[in-house]
Amino acid sequence: MAFHFLVVFALLQVSHGGAVMPEEAYWKSLFPNNPMPKALKDILPKSFNAPTYLRGGYGSGYGHSSKEFHAPNYVWGSYGDGHDDPSKEFKRETISLEGNVALLNETTFFFQEDLRTGKLVNLPRLATTSDKTPFFPNQIAETMPFSSDKLPEIVNNLSLKPQTREAGVVNETIRGCERAAIDGEQKFCATSFESFIDSSVSKLGKQIQLLSSVLSKETKNPLFTIVKGMENMGENELICHKMEYPGAVFMCHSINKTVVYKVPLVSGDGTQANALVVCHKDTWNWNPKHLAFRVLKVKPGTGPICHFLGRDTLVWVSSSTTK
Ligand SMILES: *[C@@H]1O[C@H](CO)[C@@H](O)[C@H](O)[C@H]1NC(C)=O
Ligand SMILES: *[C@@H]1O[C@H](CO)[C@@H](O)[C@H](O)[C@H]1NC(C)=O
Ligand SMILES: *[C@@H]1O[C@H](CO)[C@@H](O)[C@H](O)[C@H]1NC(C)=O
Ligand SMILES: *[C@@H]1O[C@H](CO)[C@@H](O)[C@H](O)[C@H]1NC(C)=O
Repeated sequence: MAFHFLVVFALLQVSHGGAVMPEEAYWKSLFPNNPMPKALKDILPKSFNAPTYLRGGYGSGYGHSSKEFHAPNYVWGSYGDGHDDPSKEFKRETISLEGNVALLNETTFFFQEDLRTGKLVNLPRLATTSDKTPFFPNQIAETMPFSSDKLPEIVNNLSLKPQTREAGVVNETIRGCERAAIDGEQKFCATSFESFIDSSVSKLGKQIQLLSSVLSKETKNPLFTIVKGMENMGENELICHKMEYPGAVFMCHSINKTVVYKVPLVSGDGTQANALVVCHKDTWNWNPKHLAFRVLKVKPGTGPICHFLGRDTLVWVSSSTTK
């Protein structure tokens, strides 16, 4: 795969004088009929000029743009929280759900029957801007270690200081990637554009399309109404959560018996959105303390549980199963 990528890159360098990004050429070679979604275009590596990302260059850039090193949809209370690791206890047992009015007010987990036209949903995290941290250039992603036993080296490579919040986040993200899959789950982490594409294709094949939540404009209004036109995108999917890391890292997984929906929404101020929802039909092996069960007051395995996906989450679905 790497070889293929480089060949395409070299050819384009010759024929277009380097004007076309190698990532776009690679995308086109695999998916000639589907344009690259904006959500992915927005996070392509900034340049192939490796040294600027690393010691010195990267470090100083990081200082100016610490906002970029922040994936708002992967923090506590996000649509993916806990769900990303259904086997795990809900992270912050000490926060009482009952006492957290704001969280109760937010549409987190819900039953399938509430996924219907006319339903009002409160999605503050859809109404925030998305994390645009770009992928590291491929050569850097390939040479930089990504494993917890190399943590000191990684922290040093990224010009981060040990014992800082950033170093802690790097540690957490890597550990999250290393956790074992639960029954019925397949997972991988992608730390480069190329591995994001290649690993997804090797899991689902080339007849796939990439989906993301799309808003017609930025809005501060989190209250949306589900409108007509919901689409069932099938059960053959890979949900790719953007993790907090100095370069884009996606934790992609599929959980058996999970259905993806494309859900059109309209907010009070007229903003239109196409949000992504997943419904898990089978939750029998989730941790009974999972937030979903506490929010919905049900036990594992009692019926489909749905949730919206965060704005930075990218979803591959098999084109052959879509309607
Ligand atoms: C619930 O959400 C709505 C919409 O964001 C907001 O106006 C209201 O103040 C919230 N209520 C609480 C108790 O947080
Ligand atoms: C990371 O650091 C190690 C040792 O400190 C070094 O050998 C390696 O080349 C560095 N990698 C990158 C991509 O900077
Ligand atoms: C990394 O995180 C784990 C727990 O998630 C913790 O036990 C370990 O001490 C952390 N390592 C560092 C260097 O922060
Ligand atoms: C999940 O699906 C795979 C492939 O369809 C199957 O082999 C596996 O047994 C399933 N696992 C569970 C726990 O349902």
